[in-house]
Amino acid sequence: MKIGIINSGGDTQSLNAVIASAVIHGIKLGHTFVGFIKGWEGLLDKEYIQLDTETVRGISHLGGTILYSVNKGRFAGKAGEGKMNKIDPAILDLAINNLAEMGIDALIVIGGDGTLAAAMQLDEKGVKIIGVPKTIDNDLKATDMTFGFSTAVNVVLDAVDRLHTTAFSHERVMFVETMGRHAGWIALHAGIAGGADVILLPEFEFSYEKLVQFLRWRKTIGRKYSIVVVSEGAKAQNEKLVTKESQSNKSEVQLGGITEQIMSRVNEMAQGEFEMRNVVLGHIQRGGSPNAEDRVLAKTYGVSAITGIENEQFGKMVAIQNKKIVFVPIYDALEGLNLVTKDNTAYQTAQKLGIFFGE
Ligand code: F6P
Repeated sequence: MKIGIINSGGDTQSLNAVIASAVIHGIKLGHTFVGFIKGWEGLLDKEYIQLDTETVRGISHLGGTILYSVNKGRFAGKAGEGKMNKIDPAILDLAINNLAEMGIDALIVIGGDGTLAAAMQLDEKGVKIIGVPKTIDNDLKATDMTFGFSTAVNVVLDAVDRLHTTAFSHERVMFVETMGRHAGWIALHAGIAGGADVILLPEFEFSYEKLVQFLRWRKTIGRKYSIVVVSEGAKAQNEKLVTKESQSNKSEVQLGGITEQIMSRVNEMAQGEFEMRNVVLGHIQRGGSPNAEDRVLAKTYGVSAITGIENEQFGKMVAIQNKKIVFVPIYDALEGLNLVTKDNTAYQTAQKLGIFFGE
């Protein structure tokens, strides 16, 4: 078969490992490959590169993607949290014609919920698609783990470890703002691993009064500094989500700025009581080389996508459930987000350790 590979949406550190392993395994089985540049845009503009064993040599340990990526454009499958975008039928037709002209038999689509939502609209028109889940946020249902998440957690952990020493020296409250969009997994895992005192997550609205009380209480028991890990989507009770003004025609809101808001509010409520600083880690969490866990995961997804094609699992997404590879209908994978819940083991561990969630 001639197989097209598309990665779209925000990058993660091990996209290249997925691409390389799919190509290396697929070529052995007689398939040929092209990679579309900048996701769906490359398919619409017929901008692509041939992918063979030479093109993918030595890329698996590199972050980013050799195919470039965008999370906006004519093929935006999502309009916000849980809201699907209907793609213009003329755009869908253009994609289908281009695939036919190029003689492409199947597509491997590597993406998060937005990318896969767009893929489904092509699937409905008969395009053979295998989805591969990708996001540092780890917020896709139907799979236990997405690649990129583990490395992102390590990046945050490294920052938290470093902040402990400077927070100690200056007796400060340090706020660390993580990515994760509407899911708090990165903050939760890095916060537990890094010994955070407070973790604020999008899933549980926090109270400013209780946060101030908690920070004061720490002082009374002799804890002179505090580390507060805050997921970018965390929200105070009765307040709006803190967003940034979008600089592009992105289909989703851009989050960020919650730690600034928390510092100014805490300062209003407890003037001069705490010396505070914040660190917004931003895209550092998506950059650089993937860790070992993410490379293995990405390579597993890459070769499994080819297994999916061989077994005609079209319209399905490769997933890992209870350590086994399974193929789940993309629609099922898109139903709702994988969010932190109070019966989650990590959450319960944190609670038993006395980490405060702001409630
Ligand atoms: O979904 C991955 C993610 O990194 C989120 O954690 C974050 O909110 C968003 O993408 C940032 O998007 P952009 O790269 O467009 O700023």
